[in-house]
Amino acid sequence: MNLRIFSLISAFLLVIGFTSVVWAGGGDDSVDLNRKTPEILVKKGKALFVHYCAHCHGLAGDGDGFNAEYLEKEPAELSDQKSQAKKTNHQIYKVINKGGAGVRKSHLMPVFGKTLSEAEIWALVAYIRDLGGDQSHPVFLPQGVNSDRPVFESVSKEDLQTFNKWFEDEGEKKSSIQAGEKLFKKKKSCFACHQLEEEEEKIGGRIGPDLSQAGARYGPEWLYAWIMNPHAYKRETKMPNMAVASEEAQVLTAFLSGLGSINQETDWQPFLQATGNPATGKSLFFDPEGKVYCSKCHRVAGDGGMIGPDLSFVGTSRSRLFLLESILDPKAVITAGYSTVLILTKERKFITGVLKFEDDSGVSIVDKEGNDLFVSKTQIKKYKTQKISMMPGNFKDLLEVQEVADILAYLQSLKLAEFSGVSEK
Ligand code: HEC
Ligand code: HEC
Ligand code: HEC
Repeated sequence: MNLRIFSLISAFLLVIGFTSVVWAGGGDDSVDLNRKTPEILVKKGKALFVHYCAHCHGLAGDGDGFNAEYLEKEPAELSDQKSQAKKTNHQIYKVINKGGAGVRKSHLMPVFGKTLSEAEIWALVAYIRDLGGDQSHPVFLPQGVNSDRPVFESVSKEDLQTFNKWFEDEGEKKSSIQAGEKLFKKKKSCFACHQLEEEEEKIGGRIGPDLSQAGARYGPEWLYAWIMNPHAYKRETKMPNMAVASEEAQVLTAFLSGLGSINQETDWQPFLQATGNPATGKSLFFDPEGKVYCSKCHRVAGDGGMIGPDLSFVGTSRSRLFLLESILDPKAVITAGYSTVLILTKERKFITGVLKFEDDSGVSIVDKEGNDLFVSKTQIKKYKTQKISMMPGNFKDLLEVQEVADILAYLQSLKLAEFSGVSEK
């Protein structure tokens, strides 16, 4: 059969298959044991759960994800059939869609209705029912359900101008900062995923970066834009769209901008004082024969390797000092999604690499050479996340002060056009 026709037909069958399991309401909680939740829905739900939920609720929904111990309120034990059976499918849908704060539960449960499609949230409901082995509440996609994710306009140039004006007038006022602090800690879920330092102690969740030095690491314009719409800048981020109004994003930015400073090594001054040449920096960055060959691991505008993060607009998203720290002392802050793991296999082999994905079947990593590896849980004897970076830590010794300044100037030149850079550091 002609390949094109074949794929058309299979796409068609898939649609029929999907709609035929779908017709009855997901909210239809009437018990009919002859009808079972479609397998495909559970599978889809599981993949989403691993990406967005398992860090708090645990892979098997037991409430024991790695982040759970940092939360003031225990994440619900979704695998507990007894407590879950009291809920309708619609009630479970609603918590995920609106977040805890939207249904008079803890604000630490984030809102997902601005991140996932309706169909995806139903898939999560199906997976949660499956976790507890509950067959008395089969889940089906309701008719006419939307399977497109919510789309938000990126923050425009005009929005950013309005923000900059606001920030100049109001950003340092106590009232703005306090309003932002309250949202961060008590109303929105920020604290469930981000740490802050209070009385020399770190508190808060660890899914996203520590924000105790946010003011020194990010410029206000970037903070505002990211908080409004993280997915416009990083589609696969685990940070949900927090459904904040622009007034809320403004005060959150005021709060975060006031936080902390980076502990500078005393010998960093020369690097910061030297004037760099971005063109020379660029050649160093991409030179396979050079001392550093940054592009072995990093991409800029689609060019380069996959081991480290994409740096295409790092000049907008990180302050100059943060960038310098990233080059001289990479382990100081490990970029979200790039932790290093060390695996000891049952054959007593050590494997190390950047963790990409983990579920109950195994872990996927990228090694130093850029190879994708999958190690199944049955092969693993021991496994832990390490506080080291896969990025070499000896650039300070390898490079001249001028070379570092050149690379820094190159990174700072990598900007998003719509940002004015007015409030940048
Ligand atoms: C940052 C941590 C965190 C993440 C991430 C998270 N949750 Fe929660 N979740 C919580 C907390 C805490 C509660 C408890 C709220 C309460 O009881 O007041 C909760 C409660 C719930 C409840 C209500 C359960 C009940 O018995 O009342 C559901 C359902 C739920 N979460 C589903 C999800 C799903 C699905 C995801 C992923 C899309 C997810 N959660 C992601 C922390 C989290
Ligand atoms: C469910 C967890 C979660 C919640 C809730 C959450 N974040 Fe995040 N946040 C993340 C993760 C993960 C990242 C790392 C982004 C990435 O690179 O994917 C992040 C990154 C950030 C960053 C740094 C952006 C950058 O350039 O790397 C800021 C600032 C931030 N979040 C602010 C907030 C604020 C403010 C809130 C509350 C309104 C919030 N976050 C709620 C998980 C979360
Ligand atoms: C062997 C691979 C490798 C090489 C070579 C490498 N990096 Fe990295 N880089 C990484 C990894 C992995 C991370 C993420 C972990 C971390 O934060 O340290 C990272 C993080 C970074 C970050 C922080 C990004 C962010 O968004 O937080 C910057 C900036 C950076 N690298 C710049 C450079 C520059 C400049 C060079 C060359 C002088 C370079 N890297 C060479 C692997 C590499």
